Amino acid sequence: MTVNDTVRHLDAKPETPLLYILRNDLALNGPKYGCGLGECGACAVLVDGRPVRSCTVPLGAVVTRRVTTLEGLAAEGGLHPVQRAFIEEAAAQCGYCLNGMIIAVVGLLARNPDPGESDIREALRHHLCRCGTHVEILAAARRAVR
Ligand code: FES
Repeated sequence: MTVNDTVRHLDAKPETPLLYILRNDLALNGPKYGCGLGECGACAVLVDGRPVRSCTVPLGAVVTRRVTTLEGLAAEGGLHPVQRAFIEEAAAQCGYCLNGMIIAVVGLLARNPDPGESDIREALRHHLCRCGTHVEILAAARRAVR
């Protein structure tokens, strides 16, 4: 499959969760294991530009698709503007949820370049942050829109 614009040859069962492949086989640790049930959003990645929860996606479903992880968002020599916005707003406390938050905002901007407050909140609605830095996360998302 293609991950972060590189073709990867894997020897794995098609039912293996994509998250396990990314973290364990490809050492891409941007996506996090949170709930393993598709509920927290920590494991989000982009598949053909759309956010998905990689803990619930089997490898077999993405072998012909383009997978982008948090690591793949950064172009050569620079962070993605959404990554920079999250740093500039100091949106991390423990940082565990930020992978999913950033992927969600990148996905939102890909389908709606000028989202309003309700669009931002809807995109992040099912991403959990246990530290409670929601104010900073929303500020980062708004900064990314600007
Ligand atoms: Fe995938 Fe929680 S770890 S949604």
